Amino acid sequence: MDHTKKPVVEALQTFLGSQPVSFHVPGHKHGLLSGLPEDLKAALRYDVTELTGLDDLHAPTEMLAEAQMMLADVYGADQSFFLVNGSTVGNLAMIRTVCAPGDTLLVQRNAHKSVFHAVELAGAQAVLLTPEWDEATCTAGAVSKTTVEEALERYPDAKGVVVTYPTYYGTTGSDLQTIVEKSHDKGIPVLVDEAHGAHFVVGTPFPASALRLGADIVVQSAHKTLSAMTQASFLHANSQLVDIDRLTRILSMLQTSSPSYVLLASLDDARAMIATYSEDDKQAFLVWRGEFIDQLSKIKALEVIETEDPLKILLRQKEASGYTLQHSLEEVGIYTELADERQVLFVLPLLPEAISYPTQSVCEAVESAVQLLQRDSVQVPEKDESNEEESRKLIITTSSHSKKDTEWVPAESANGFQAAAAIIPYPPGIPLVLSGEQLNAQLIQEVCHMMDSGAKFQGAVRVNGPATEFEVLSAQGEDWNG
Ligand SMILES: Cc1ncc(COP(=O)(O)O)c(C=O)c1O
Repeated sequence: MDHTKKPVVEALQTFLGSQPVSFHVPGHKHGLLSGLPEDLKAALRYDVTELTGLDDLHAPTEMLAEAQMMLADVYGADQSFFLVNGSTVGNLAMIRTVCAPGDTLLVQRNAHKSVFHAVELAGAQAVLLTPEWDEATCTAGAVSKTTVEEALERYPDAKGVVVTYPTYYGTTGSDLQTIVEKSHDKGIPVLVDEAHGAHFVVGTPFPASALRLGADIVVQSAHKTLSAMTQASFLHANSQLVDIDRLTRILSMLQTSSPSYVLLASLDDARAMIATYSEDDKQAFLVWRGEFIDQLSKIKALEVIETEDPLKILLRQKEASGYTLQHSLEEVGIYTELADERQVLFVLPLLPEAISYPTQSVCEAVESAVQLLQRDSVQVPEKDESNEEESRKLIITTSSHSKKDTEWVPAESANGFQAAAAIIPYPPGIPLVLSGEQLNAQLIQEVCHMMDSGAKFQGAVRVNGPATEFEVLSAQGEDWNG
């Protein structure tokens, strides 16, 4: 297959080359009526719709069918799909495909919020799998084969195992292949949120891709580590255990009926980018990365941590929190992917041989940011202190409280209430507290501490004047509908 070809991009160029006059949506008429700046407006020429010759994402037979087939070829999938609502819609669709209301799913606890939303929308029950603590990144890492085996024994009727591979911080663990084999032995499919691993297909030293390890459905944010535009993702299916027609139907229900051709073109381009990424490109990237890390490591008081994914590195300065370091880096024009209490996370560019990236100037800027850094006290737990046994057993009935009244209560009074919605540090978007979970003093203190340190939150927590408040289910728990 000739992966330099870009069927979507080429069809759009041919269409625009015919000087078309628009009497169709979108209303900006190839950008003519748009008040956007000229360089942004230029992209609107490509923002068209399902016109003759431009196929239909929901019933593809022409260039979109070809482009998706080329995508499946790169990743070794039976069938691949373009997603225009991020990996979020991929997670919603893959989970709804395998389960119905009341069904049980085995779900890695440190999953992205979209996984929990998917469980809730499906009316399913999630059995939470406690991940292992990752010493390198000091974060919750991968789930172990032992944990999954135990859960499979206890919940043989589970409709699927949902894992995050890699984590936001680039942790993969080494058990995914065994997890897949054990699950398949019981006829249970493995659904992988590989939002951060679309580039793994380029091979070692990158971890093996989830599809290669036998996963049944895999979702990838092509916009996170490849060249696609924000919102543009891939979904792949490779399974005897999953009904692909049902997956296609559900995707069609969940995705917009007006998919953006600009996003679709960028997905086509991202597929070509990764499919043509050569061994020489990879070696050049690794050399560049090694030099970058060497230079950063020479900066006094700065620690560079490598993760299992060579595209991610962490920077730490022991006397300052990650939030403070992030702020200081922003002062010199360097924007990181995220900060936590200990560190900041850099997502490196997957450079091909022909493209360079500023290195010297970046290292100089990082050095000046570190020198300017306000030292603050970092108070972080050494290890995840959650009670593993208890959380491993925890079952959430995610839709049971959705109609109850809620109220905002100050942090001092929130102990013992159930959270009305998830409480989510963002980024990374992994709920610290799940919707319906009971708040206790430790959780409340942790949220308040993180907010004081500079973490941003979504969901059932807010700052209201001087107070931090939590949204909780009302004490009486009255059902709106009686
Ligand atoms: C692990 C994980 N899964 C899924 C998502 C959702 O991806 P998207 O932003 O493409 O919808 C994210 C987003 O950050 C994520 O980190």
